[in-house]
Amino acid sequence: MAQQEDVFKKLISHCKEYGFVFPSSEIYDGLGAVYDYGQNGVELKNNIKKYWWDSMVLLNENVVGIDSAIFMHPTIWKASGHVDAFNDPLIDNKDSKKRYRADVLIEELMAKLDDKINKEVEKAAKKFGDSFDEAKFRETNARVLENQAKREEIHNRFVKALNDNDLNELKQIIIDYEVVCPISGTKNWTDVRQFNLMFSTEMGSTSEGAMKVYLRPETAQGIFVNFLNVQKTGRMKVPFGIAQIGKAFRNEIVARQFIFRMREFEQMEMQFFVRPGEELEWFAKWKEIRMKWHKALGFGDNKYRFHDHDKLAHYANAATDIEFEMPFGFKEVEGIHSRTDFDLGSHEQYSGKKIQYFDPELNKSYVPYVIETSIGVDRMFLSIMAASYCEEKLENNETRVVLKLPPALAPAKAAILPLLKKEGLPERAREIMNVLKYNFKCMYDEKDTIGKRYRRQDAIGTPFCITVDHQTLTDNTVTIRHRDTMEQERVNISDLQSIISERVTISNLLKELEN
Ligand code: GAP
Repeated sequence: MAQQEDVFKKLISHCKEYGFVFPSSEIYDGLGAVYDYGQNGVELKNNIKKYWWDSMVLLNENVVGIDSAIFMHPTIWKASGHVDAFNDPLIDNKDSKKRYRADVLIEELMAKLDDKINKEVEKAAKKFGDSFDEAKFRETNARVLENQAKREEIHNRFVKALNDNDLNELKQIIIDYEVVCPISGTKNWTDVRQFNLMFSTEMGSTSEGAMKVYLRPETAQGIFVNFLNVQKTGRMKVPFGIAQIGKAFRNEIVARQFIFRMREFEQMEMQFFVRPGEELEWFAKWKEIRMKWHKALGFGDNKYRFHDHDKLAHYANAATDIEFEMPFGFKEVEGIHSRTDFDLGSHEQYSGKKIQYFDPELNKSYVPYVIETSIGVDRMFLSIMAASYCEEKLENNETRVVLKLPPALAPAKAAILPLLKKEGLPERAREIMNVLKYNFKCMYDEKDTIGKRYRRQDAIGTPFCITVDHQTLTDNTVTIRHRDTMEQERVNISDLQSIISERVTISNLLKELEN
């Protein structure tokens, strides 16, 4: 674990050193849980967004996009339930003065028990080899049974407390299972309190006063309130989806772990409108589609898992998270929710406008049900950086830091490097750059030794380095170096376009999703 924390720290400094992520307002000592993306970060982020957007609106004829405003009528947040119920249960440790989410502390407690059980099973599997019967072991081993029973008891109390909105019981679980503050190491806890996460500000100024408006805490409501606009103007037929990428804001109290939990972040959300009664079938389909989208990046299937929700929101009849193995454990990157007709129904009620769809096949009108897929751009960014960051020992005993980013997402696709800063090599390199730049983000670099330049490109994940040398001037060939293998091959300049394109275009990733 300590080693993992170390990797995470290195990743954070790498993000800063190589222009991926900077603390916001740094020269004024920063602003808590707000970050800026640098010159390489913004390219990676844009590529992630393009991969998602294209997978939604290019691969699905029945999914279209919108871009709604961040400010919306305040009643929207009343209708959505955010004014009354968008709260986190918080608890403070009186000694360290640190604040935690009570539900997260309890989830971590259960995860620790899961770990203990799994370690016990792994140990036994090693000991007994081929003859090991895991199911029987789990049913009979005293330590496993004891931890399993404890986990179940916590789980049952936790779900009941959440469903009953019983803050005292949440605290009692923390006390009964002797959860300690990781900073002070004590069990000296305050009561659990609810805290609303929405930021508000004021719009306009009239003699009667200004109107209180919220910075949207999710992009989804912009989709719901435009349901009829899009359905009518796009002549959309249920089932169909509306996708949106945009900023969201939450006054996260426990904002830790770098860009994992931010106060200003970006979401990619898609609301898929279906016939009532067909929602669970679509929920299963979108679960599969979304998991495939993640796995196509090639980091290894074992990095992902579903985590079904213990507590369903009152409007949901199914919900799951796609979790990714971050350096600090498996964490939610995306949520997939079956939200019934709650949102559209509620906006119908609050706005007094009919929000229904006439289904010509059924010859009747209804409020469609909704499957939502909701993923954070920043969390996706963090998961990709974490999975790509490698330190490799080389034959000469040096260490190289390389970002093994999926080539389609890499900030730059190729670096053009004249071997020397003279003898016509820079001019020839520029000519190559001028051809490639229309299709790929390229970088030109003539400073320092070629070895140092390779390292710089490795550190930002550039899949190809193209070196222009004296031979280039005579036979129009260059060397192309592959980031992951460091192998170099001599190729014709005229082939560069297709060699690069074959590895780096997002359409290749999209094609994998259709297989
Ligand atoms: N419309 C549904 C919704 O907003 P959510 O589970 O609250 O659901 C969806 O958020 C996704 O947005 C999360 O899976 C996560 O990736 C991202 N997200 C949520 N809060 C975030 C935060 N404070 N910082 C960064 N990303 C966040």
